[in-house]
Amino acid sequence: MKKLKETIKSFTEIEGGLMPALHAVQEQEGHISKNAISELAHAFNYSKAEVLDVLTYYDDFTLEPSGEHVIRVCGAEACQSLKSKELTDLLTDHFGLNLGETTSDSKITLKEVFCLGNCALGPSVMINQTVIGEADKDKVLSFLDNIE
Ligand code: FES
Repeated sequence: MKKLKETIKSFTEIEGGLMPALHAVQEQEGHISKNAISELAHAFNYSKAEVLDVLTYYDDFTLEPSGEHVIRVCGAEACQSLKSKELTDLLTDHFGLNLGETTSDSKITLKEVFCLGNCALGPSVMINQTVIGEADKDKVLSFLDNIE
């Protein structure tokens, strides 16, 4: 696995390189650690607070390690009208999680996102990199069973 410093360094010559560097670190490590924030600040000549401001502004980044599987339920308008809130409630109950939390065995992280580009087939859920349309609790759980 590429070292954090190497990953970050490869973006320092690019104009506006902080955002792609954040994405690369998130992809590599699953979250943006305190160590990564220090390295990014140093590499891009920002303060740690400035890096933190950028990464907390966007939903894409997380400061905590995510679970093995990340479930993102769309909470945008089209999916809401197709009962995505009810689906979110069923999933939070099932896993005993609030949105943004990870199960204690680090298997599942449950998040809300706003539009997965699959509005006509809502409610939409993305599990890891796969978007599931017309999602319901059974579809989500059986998808998880099949990837275990
Ligand atoms: S509103 Fe849910 S996928 Fe677009």
